[in-house]
Amino acid sequence: MRIGILGSGLMGGKLGTLFARAGHDVVFSYARSEQKLKRLARGALRLAPLAQDRPGSARAGTPADAVRDADAILLAVHWSRVDDVLKQAGDVAGKVIITCALPMNADDTALAIGQTSSGAETLAKKLRRAKVVSAFGTVPSEVFFGVFGARRRKNRPSLAYCGDDAAAKKVTATLIRDVGFEPVDAGPLRIARYLEPFALLMAQLAYEGDDGPEVAYRFERFGR
Ligand SMILES: NC(=O)c1ccc[n+]([C@@H]2O[C@H](COP(=O)([O-])OP(=O)(O)OC[C@H]3O[C@@H](n4cnc5c(N)ncnc54)[C@H](OP(=O)(O)O)[C@@H]3O)[C@@H](O)[C@H]2O)c1
Repeated sequence: MRIGILGSGLMGGKLGTLFARAGHDVVFSYARSEQKLKRLARGALRLAPLAQDRPGSARAGTPADAVRDADAILLAVHWSRVDDVLKQAGDVAGKVIITCALPMNADDTALAIGQTSSGAETLAKKLRRAKVVSAFGTVPSEVFFGVFGARRRKNRPSLAYCGDDAAAKKVTATLIRDVGFEPVDAGPLRIARYLEPFALLMAQLAYEGDDGPEVAYRFERFGR
């Protein structure tokens, strides 16, 4: 797939790198320095590509470049930057937009939207013709490389996602698998009201716990 990264920081930089290593064509965009985007693109494929049908690719671009031919777009900016990056990205009608952005207030101390809506639903209202899926925001960026490295193990960690468009969810599930997680379809986009606070629980465990931020989760079923 062609994947546009809007916001190439902790989340976008790492996920874009792993998408490229999994064989996708990635455009990194939206950082304060173009050098950083170029460095990310060079670094993405530095490790030997894995056994796969075709190697991926990575390049730096503008948000408009990232979106233009994208099969999927990862939105990975602070909530306060969403309008700016979308303005630079231009037309996203018909596009799959995977958001990991949590609707945090300016000082990152609390969700600014919740209970009766969510960041993902607010985004979908802004972008009525795009197909918004909420994914990847429920784990800290520090865990992605470890999960990718362990992707051949039997018990993969879970990653819950939600959205209203079946085809967009299928694309998202593929990318979740490519990073090394087991996708867990949590239902329609309104379930982001539960996913987003859950992401703060994960952040609490990652950054306030004693065992470091490389933490993921795994749902298991019992009985019957
Ligand atoms: N970090 C996590 O573990 C985590 C986990 C779950 C969800 N999230 C959510 O994911 C989203 C991204 O988080 P993150 O931690 O990846 O953030 P981040 O590291 O700060 O990355 C944000 C990106 O936006 C760029 N940016 C910021 N202001 C800009 C401006 N004025 N012009 C151009 N580019 C600008 C940054 O540029 P620079 O590269 O130059 O700084 C960076 O590339 C957030 O909504 C967050 O709530 C994060």
